[in-house]
This record gives sequence, C-alpha cells and structure tokens, in this order.
Amino acid sequence: MSDPYYGNGQPLVGVSHLKKYFPVRKGVMRRVVAQVKAVDDVSFEIKPGETLGLVGESGCGKTTVGRSLLRLIEPSDGHVEFENVDVLKASKGDLRRLRRNMQIIFQDPYASLNPRMSVLEIIGEGLRVHKLTSSTSELEDRVRELLDRVKLDPVYINRYPHEFSGGQRQRIGIARALSLKPKFIVCDEAVSALDVSIQAQVINLLMDLRDEFGLSYLFVAHDLSVVRHISHRVAVMYLGKIVEIADTEALFASPMHPYTRALLSAVPVANPTAKRERIVLQGDVPSPINPPPGCPFHTRCPVAMAKCKTEVPPLKEAGSGHTYTCHLDE
Ligand SMILES: Nc1ncnc2c1ncn2[C@@H]1O[C@H](COP(=O)(O)OP(=O)(O)OP(=O)(O)O)[C@@H](O)[C@H]1O
Ligand SMILES: [Mg+2]
Repeated sequence: MSDPYYGNGQPLVGVSHLKKYFPVRKGVMRRVVAQVKAVDDVSFEIKPGETLGLVGESGCGKTTVGRSLLRLIEPSDGHVEFENVDVLKASKGDLRRLRRNMQIIFQDPYASLNPRMSVLEIIGEGLRVHKLTSSTSELEDRVRELLDRVKLDPVYINRYPHEFSGGQRQRIGIARALSLKPKFIVCDEAVSALDVSIQAQVINLLMDLRDEFGLSYLFVAHDLSVVRHISHRVAVMYLGKIVEIADTEALFASPMHPYTRALLSAVPVANPTAKRERIVLQGDVPSPINPPPGCPFHTRCPVAMAKCKTEVPPLKEAGSGHTYTCHLDE
C-alpha cells in the first residue's frame, strides 16, 4: 500500500508482554478462584500512519487488547508506550494528554452514543472537557466542520442519535473520535454491525481520514476481507496470544500458522476457479481460564504433532517482519 506516512520512523505505539487476566470470583467472600487469561503476553508495534489489523475468533482477546492500550481496562502486566511515554505508568495529567491522542470507535453504533445527548453535545463533549474552544459559537462551528468531514449534513447538529441510521451513527462516532485531533484510533469492529454496502462507505471514510491526518489505527475485525482492504499489517490472535503477524500481502499470500491458514481458507476468493481447500476447524475455542498446555492451538490443529501438546512453540521468522509460533518444519 502506498501512502506518504506509512513506515516512517519510530513506532507510535509499542506494546510488549501485555497481559490481562480477569479474576473469576466465587462465593459470599468473592474469593478469586481462577483467572481468565484474556490477553497473555502480547507484543507488537504500530508506526505513524500505519494500520494494524487484529483478527481471530470471538473471545480470543481482541477487544481486551484494544481497551488495554487506552487503559479503559487496566492491564495486569506488560508495557504500553505511546510516543515513548509509558502509558501504564502515566500520571492523571499525562493520561489526559494521552487520551486526546488515543481514541476508540466501538462496534455498536446504537449502544455507543448516549440517546439523551444531541449530536452537538456528543461530538462537542471532548472539546468542551479539554477546553479547546473559547465560545459556544466556536464549538458549534467546529462540530459542523467535523460533521462535514465525516460526510454528514451539518444541519443535523441538534438532532439525537435515534434519528440516524446505523451508518450515520457510526459517522457520528468517528466525528467524536476525531474531535480532539488524535494520532491513534482503535477501531473495535467499527463496521461489523453495518450492512455490507454501508461498511464499504465507512471503511473508505476511515481510509481517507487516515491519509489526510496521518492517523494510525488498530483495526479489530472478524471479517478478513475488510481487514485485508484497510490494513498494512495483520496480527492473528488465538486464546490471548498473537500466533502470527505479517505484512498484509505476505500473510494472505503465504500464511504460516495452521490457525491463520484455517481462517484464510474461509475467506471467499475473487477467482472462484482458483483451487483452495477449505479447512474446517473442529470444536470450540478452549476456555481461556485453562488454556491447553504446549501450543494453545493443538487441540484443534489439523497437523498437530506429539510435542505440540507439551512444548510451547518457538517464535519463527518467515520473512522480514513476518513471525509466527509453531512447531511445524523443525
Ligand atoms: N470484564 C471481564 N471479566 C471477565 N472476563 C472477561 C471480561 N471481558 C472479557 N472477558 C473474557 O476475556 C476473553 C477475551 O474477551 P474479548 O472481548 O477481548 O474477546 P474478543 O476477541 O474481542 O471477542 P469478540 O470477537 O467476540 O468481540 C473472553 O474469554 C471473555 O469472556
Ligand atoms: Mg471484541
């Protein structure tokens, strides 16, 4: 993908050994009896202007990663850096500044907007809280500008969320995220709830905004064709771990991990005569309370060997920036 920002300089976001364990409590004493290992030792970087796709089956920890980066969830362990500032150790003041630069767009355009707030209040809230405008008319002008930028008619400024369609609400959510001129946005299934034709429009809007403002995205989604379209690189998660990460083209052309291969085999291809075998994964994702020993994927892997059940697979390199964790071909 060619755009002016991609790949330049230092990482904007650096994540290393990130963990989030949710305690499971029981009984009247609410004693902790187990831990849900939602995110278990995840590391990656995102460069300025770069979009990293994050894929994997439901429950593998994608949302937990996204929210941990913004500290909407407190991670249990690991490091998150944003422009070399330690996000997890940030003071309240630092966090306020960081939050201006790091925003999130949620999946459900119906649940994520307060029904009692007008468009002006929703989009203008951040500007007001951070005192970025000096008068009501300046605030209104700025909100009108933002509406225009996400291709919504500024005459809607005093309307309420229920008066809009799903795609329009998602545009309101995008305008809200943009209001503080962030550098980084987590898009958590931002288009998953929308009709396919509307999805394409919102994706194109996100790509235009990225190019215009040099934004970086962590783009979380189930739909691999959407992820392929928007992402420079893609990380594949399984049971709280990244099992493969690569440039988008490399990942789709030569997936190395059997889990990635299975996920990709379910994506419709443009040329239906091209031969590709559908790999159907058996069974459900095991519980993250008790992940399988060895390779966490071994219980469902079509090519698992004896040692996959006991030995944690090593991190291997398949090419520049293309890594995966698997015992195959050793
Ligand atoms: N607040 C919480 N308390 C306990 N467990 C949680 C909590 N939030 C998430 N989990 C668990 O952590 C694991 C990862 O959840 P997460 O929502 O991050 O997955 P996901 O990949 O975003 O799934 P989906 O594709 O369905 O959105 C799941 O097993 C989930 O049940
Ligand atoms: Mg999720």
